[in-house]
Amino acid sequence: MSSRCDVCVVGASGYAGSAISGAFREADVSVCGTFFRHRVPGERLRRLDVSDGEAVENLLRSWSPRIVINAAADWSTKSAMEATIVQGARNLAAACADVGCRLIHISTDVVFDGRKGCYTESDAPRPVHDYGKAKARAEVEISTLRDYLIIRTSLIIGHDGADAQSRWIRSALSRGSQIVLFTDEYRSPIWVEDLAGGIVRLAEAEVGGVVHLAGTQGLSRYQLGVFLAERLGLDPAGITPGLQEESGLVRPKDCTLNVNKATGLGVRLRPLAPQMEGKYCV
Ligand SMILES: NC(=O)c1ccc[n+]([C@@H]2O[C@H](COP(=O)([O-])OP(=O)(O)OC[C@H]3O[C@@H](n4cnc5c(N)ncnc54)[C@H](OP(=O)(O)O)[C@@H]3O)[C@@H](O)[C@H]2O)c1
Repeated sequence: MSSRCDVCVVGASGYAGSAISGAFREADVSVCGTFFRHRVPGERLRRLDVSDGEAVENLLRSWSPRIVINAAADWSTKSAMEATIVQGARNLAAACADVGCRLIHISTDVVFDGRKGCYTESDAPRPVHDYGKAKARAEVEISTLRDYLIIRTSLIIGHDGADAQSRWIRSALSRGSQIVLFTDEYRSPIWVEDLAGGIVRLAEAEVGGVVHLAGTQGLSRYQLGVFLAERLGLDPAGITPGLQEESGLVRPKDCTLNVNKATGLGVRLRPLAPQMEGKYCV
């Protein structure tokens, strides 16, 4: 049996990575992938530490994929971010240059400083915290390649309630904890299937450069929390509205993304909570 695969998803055991793998499979593309700590079943899945350059090179040589999707990241500590986000991007870029494959890299809206909002692909990254800084440095590593696509996305939400935001809200509210969410911090949350479907579409169309894939509706963190709590059947009264401005935290305030480039390329992107009054970037 040939060990080749068409699309290799690095971080296939993660929330976005598993949805992206599924969307390519549905499009009848041969998919292989990697996990790190959480073994997922499947003959076309192997363990990979993306911070190990030799292992990355060996894996891509053996699978020889046409496209690599980088959905791997560990943002639990500063050193984990340096290893997985920055060194991982450097390793994947070097291996893709060697093997001759395209690299599609998942980046984030928080490469921006949040002062302006409705960021377009031509706005310059200006991150304010460690995670945003690591992701911005990873983008620089990726853009040294001839053939790459950087996807900047926002908070990833799933109908299954298994995304990180929903899990956090469920765990806090079901314990009876009171949580504060900001009314002055805006993001463009996206349904995971829109992200995955958008990546398949852009891969098929061989789009390069930077593309923003996010929900079409900006919501405050508070609005998002209330929306998710209600979906999960929990009482949103446990969420207190607060102001980031008064919190003293260093976080970008308005990282909403303009997605006109993606929708112009035929990607389906939706508002997360059309029944709520949100912010639309036109
Ligand atoms: N979640 C969001 O709302 C959001 C928003 C914007 C951008 N993003 C970006 O989207 C991408 C995917 O995020 P996600 O939410 O799907 O994250 P996730 O569920 O935490 O998945 C992260 C993936 O990275 C893998 N990984 C961790 N350390 C690794 C290492 N040393 N070597 C190789 N793989 C490693 C994990 O493997 P194991 O689980 O097997 O250890 C997992 O497959 C990330 O680049 C993230 O920065 C996410």
